[in-house]
Amino acid sequence: MSTSTFDTQASASLPLPCGPILGWSSFKMVTAQPLPSIENLPYIAFTTSGRAAIYQALLQLQLPPGSSVLVPSYHCPTMVAPVLLAHLSVAYFGLRPDGLPNLDTIDAATANRCKAMLVAHYFGLPKSLAEVRKWCDDHAIALIEDCAHCYFGTAGERPIGAWGDFSTASISKFFPVPEGGILASAHRPIRPLELCTPSLKAQFKAWIDVVEMATYYQRLTGLNRALSLLFKLKNSFLRSPAPVENLPESVAPSMMHSSNMGRIAQAPLRAALLLKTILPRNRIIRQRQKNFLLYALYFENSPGAKPLFPLADIPISHLAPYVFPLWVDDAERIYHALRALKIPVFRWDKIWPGTPQLDGDVGPLWSQHVLQLLCHQDLSQTDIQRITHALLNLLPPLTTP
Ligand SMILES: Cc1ncc(COP(=O)(O)O)c(C=O)c1O
Repeated sequence: MSTSTFDTQASASLPLPCGPILGWSSFKMVTAQPLPSIENLPYIAFTTSGRAAIYQALLQLQLPPGSSVLVPSYHCPTMVAPVLLAHLSVAYFGLRPDGLPNLDTIDAATANRCKAMLVAHYFGLPKSLAEVRKWCDDHAIALIEDCAHCYFGTAGERPIGAWGDFSTASISKFFPVPEGGILASAHRPIRPLELCTPSLKAQFKAWIDVVEMATYYQRLTGLNRALSLLFKLKNSFLRSPAPVENLPESVAPSMMHSSNMGRIAQAPLRAALLLKTILPRNRIIRQRQKNFLLYALYFENSPGAKPLFPLADIPISHLAPYVFPLWVDDAERIYHALRALKIPVFRWDKIWPGTPQLDGDVGPLWSQHVLQLLCHQDLSQTDIQRITHALLNLLPPLTTP
């Protein structure tokens, strides 16, 4: 797709969106190699978020009280909060430089008391979990495959989500919806989740929120002006500010509070399920692949920064990435400067208190040095250039030999 087909070109002064935004282009049909999706697994249930799906996976497993769950030292707090909410304890494992669990960081005593392990396909770059699956089977530990970053793709020898006893995903990271998650399994039927149905008002508000966000980012050419006026009127009447996407809080009052686990017992909103069903997927997959490759090109030879993984090791046609992971030497300064510029970038620098230092674990280094640059389908080529230029401007100048 050429950049001129985006509705975004008139909106260069707006901050760039941190997630997919509904627009006319969301309906565009594009040819691409179809990829497996977690939705195609035989057993599937919908939740309000990826974190709610992890919580539900733990409930499905019916673990003995007091059991521990292994989680990675490199994590988003929303991967740890569900374990504690399920009244289980947390144990940690370290990561290898390829992002897979470093099983040597789990001692025998820890393996003995753990009954489940949460393993994520980081950045939307899935890998075979054959070794982890075997280790879990040998230790009678259930595997929860966290596909929050991987709605589509193949993880080595199996489709995404097919390694785990249960697998979880995040709909809102891949579709322009306010919330949504998936609990799935290739092997185990899912018992009913017994979720509360949202009120009619909440259902209606979800649609308004989607359209308001689309209007804010000027994605509904022909309707933007009229809708903007309507939303201005609505907001002055309701005294609520126009919706501006939140970057994750930089200083959270508490990890559990900032993990925002409030809606885990709710059923997802119909707006999310309907949009997920009707929107074409090929554009989502293709545009993410293109944006990822653009970043790879721009950061191929940048001083003070390098792609976390060599492009040659990434089977890009078999996946739809969530972010482009970039190692930055002077990450602390550059990350804060980028956030001040409202650039859509994340860094997992808030790790859960008590996360141990483990020998042979790249997690602490990644928490410090890895910037996650968004590459979703509603960022155009121009947007990727804007992000890249902002970052390149903060890097040390290229020295000529
Ligand atoms: C690896 C991983 N797992 C789970 C989650 C939770 O997903 P959600 O935001 O849909 O609750 C996240 C959120 O960022 C994540 O990055």
